[in-house]
Amino acid sequence: MPTYARQAVTFERGEGAWLWDTDGNRYLDALAGIAVCNLGHSHPAVHQALSEQSRTLIHTSNLYGVPLQERLADQLCHLSGMDNVFFCNSGTEANEAAIKIARKFGHGKGVECPIVVSMNKSFHGRTLGALSATGNPKVKQGFEPLLAGFIHVDYDDMATLTTLVESNASIVAILVEPVQGEGGVNMPSPHYLNDIRALCDRHDLLMMVDEIQTGIGRTGQFLAYQHNDILPDVCTLAKALGNGVPIGACLSHGKAAAVLTAGNHGSTFGGNPLACSAALAVLHELSSTDLIAEARRKGQQIHDRLAHSLADNRHVVTIRHKGLMIGIELDTPCSTLVAQALEKNLLINVTADNVIRLLPPLIIDDEQIAFLTDTLSSLIHTHFAN
Ligand SMILES: Cc1ncc(COP(=O)(O)O)c(C=O)c1O
Repeated sequence: MPTYARQAVTFERGEGAWLWDTDGNRYLDALAGIAVCNLGHSHPAVHQALSEQSRTLIHTSNLYGVPLQERLADQLCHLSGMDNVFFCNSGTEANEAAIKIARKFGHGKGVECPIVVSMNKSFHGRTLGALSATGNPKVKQGFEPLLAGFIHVDYDDMATLTTLVESNASIVAILVEPVQGEGGVNMPSPHYLNDIRALCDRHDLLMMVDEIQTGIGRTGQFLAYQHNDILPDVCTLAKALGNGVPIGACLSHGKAAAVLTAGNHGSTFGGNPLACSAALAVLHELSSTDLIAEARRKGQQIHDRLAHSLADNRHVVTIRHKGLMIGIELDTPCSTLVAQALEKNLLINVTADNVIRLLPPLIIDDEQIAFLTDTLSSLIHTHFAN
């Protein structure tokens, strides 16, 4: 079905931060499959894990014990501070699990029609529950009736959120991205997540953090909420967890961890041995290298190089970054830059019409950073001249 407006290029091979198209041309991937291939393409540890596991056992279903799933859950809980994990196959499914936890939690305390508050400009996925939580009317249009039980408020607007929670006893959870990815690489004020945590504590609400784009080292911590030194009640993961192998996870803590019981939720493929072997290889690689700390340094380096080279361009409004999640906001729509960058062998993305989004792999090196920043600044100067 024509659900994607694809670029005119087809890739057949990848290694590290590079991709090769069917004509043998090489491109620098500054998008990492939309924050998925954080370790770069065809990572040897992931390849080896998949190859060994596919020789041993690929799938048995969740009717039986799955030792690799248990090991992965233990490691995720250790790294996140959470208590338990439900495995699925994508980000949107991880958020569906979170929404179900919120609703059952609400019913458990006698709320008849539980409401989840999420943010304007948020993106949580394309299935109907996650789409209903999403705060972007453009992606929802045509799919009404959406699910009831969601209220949206502006991102980083603590005053409105507080007033809403204080006036509506049906609210049971707040769902938030630590940095809004699809919405334009929007960074909240430094204390935003701490303030939401405190609000949830005061009103016995679940704090649910969507780390699908920000997680697995992307922002310079394993999870972005760790910059704020808090623990949410629910955290959703997918994308980079399998470095390209489909796997999603909904982690929960404390009172949220006891909500779902046998028969409440399920997935045929979720957490199968093959997907878990890839995710375990990813976690091993991240914990045995300094890639996460390097994401902070490299993100700063990219930011500084761009800030320097674009300083005199009046169309550049601001450059935002948290680790290797980088947004360059222009004062005008700029999606044409994607095809122009492709012609210069560089893969980038534009989101929210006027924000160039960079999500390079954590393994990007200095030479590749120079190519990325030089090529991109020159494109911006050429196509958005003062
Ligand atoms: C923050 C966030 N949540 C959820 C999703 C949906 O994930 P998936 O496409 O794996 O369903 C995305 C995808 O872009 C995302 O960025």
